[in-house]
Amino acid sequence: MSDTEVDEAAVTANVPEDAEAEVDEPETNDSTVEREAKHVPNAIPLKVRGLRKEFGGIVAAADVNLSVEEGSLTGLIGPNGAGKSTTFNCITGVHEPTAGQIHFQGEDITGLSPNEVAERGLVRTFQIARELEEMSVLENMMLAPTNQRGESLWRSVLPVARESVKQQEAAVLERCWEMLEFFEIDHLAHEYAGNLSGGQRKLLELARALLTEPSVLLLDEPFAGVNPSLESRLLDHINDLQESGYTFLIVEHDMDLIMENCEHVIVMHQGTVLTEGAPDEVRTNEAVIEAYLGGEVDG
Ligand SMILES: Nc1ncnc2c1ncn2[C@@H]1O[C@H](COP(=O)(O)OP(=O)(O)OP(=O)(O)O)[C@@H](O)[C@H]1O
Ligand SMILES: [Mg+2]
Repeated sequence: MSDTEVDEAAVTANVPEDAEAEVDEPETNDSTVEREAKHVPNAIPLKVRGLRKEFGGIVAAADVNLSVEEGSLTGLIGPNGAGKSTTFNCITGVHEPTAGQIHFQGEDITGLSPNEVAERGLVRTFQIARELEEMSVLENMMLAPTNQRGESLWRSVLPVARESVKQQEAAVLERCWEMLEFFEIDHLAHEYAGNLSGGQRKLLELARALLTEPSVLLLDEPFAGVNPSLESRLLDHINDLQESGYTFLIVEHDMDLIMENCEHVIVMHQGTVLTEGAPDEVRTNEAVIEAYLGGEVDG
């Protein structure tokens, strides 16, 4: 399944079965960028155990075991084809694992849909789909897959509680602006998403992901195709978000960037975790050096 299809599915799957019943209680709209108080206290929010994913005869993930610590910026590295993206896709429900378990905040979420996983606060970024390129940045934000968005769009067709809908939509709009300002792309609000540079797109993708109110964010190569000045801005935002309580698991080929910014690094090779530890431990690990020399090294 492609990123595009998943994003679309997530947008449409948010319409509640009984929208009318919930109209009386519009949801509050807390600041999305400062929400540490909402975090479930759990030292290890994400645990992957014995994860295996086969595609026909190809074993993309053989036996992945990893944990992500609350509030950390954890790096996931490894040569091309190591199984990093497959692991991400299994964690976030894009692929159903062949075997193994994913636990999030103490709950077994193995096999849940991307939308169900996102509702629990575990979110990965998705590339801006082609249809969304023809919409403005603000419209992209308004159409981001969140529970509130699906409900408010659905409710807007009901004659009941129009006022409540209006109030809620105003609050949603305010939150979208707040997020665009946080990422310093508010001046691009009325620009077509398709006209954004690679780096601006990455900021928009992250802004959209944050609207789903996650506690843990999975970023797959967030700096690919991003120019150095936007890269440092994106990195600043990620560091700010980490300080306010968000947890990140980041796949990135730029080794220096990972080593400088992550406190914990997990190295994958041939579908399993080869080693993990502090950046300095990993950098000098013989097996890691060998894995990179044996495979195609990039970045
Ligand atoms: N949908 C798929 N169908 C068949 N094989 C796949 C599929 N997705 C991944 N693979 C294979 O599984 C292996 C792991 O791929 P994966 O994309 O997870 O690696 P990766 O670590 O993300 O690599 P990269 O650094 O190049 O992004 C590769 O051999 C890849 O060709
Ligand atoms: Mg990949």
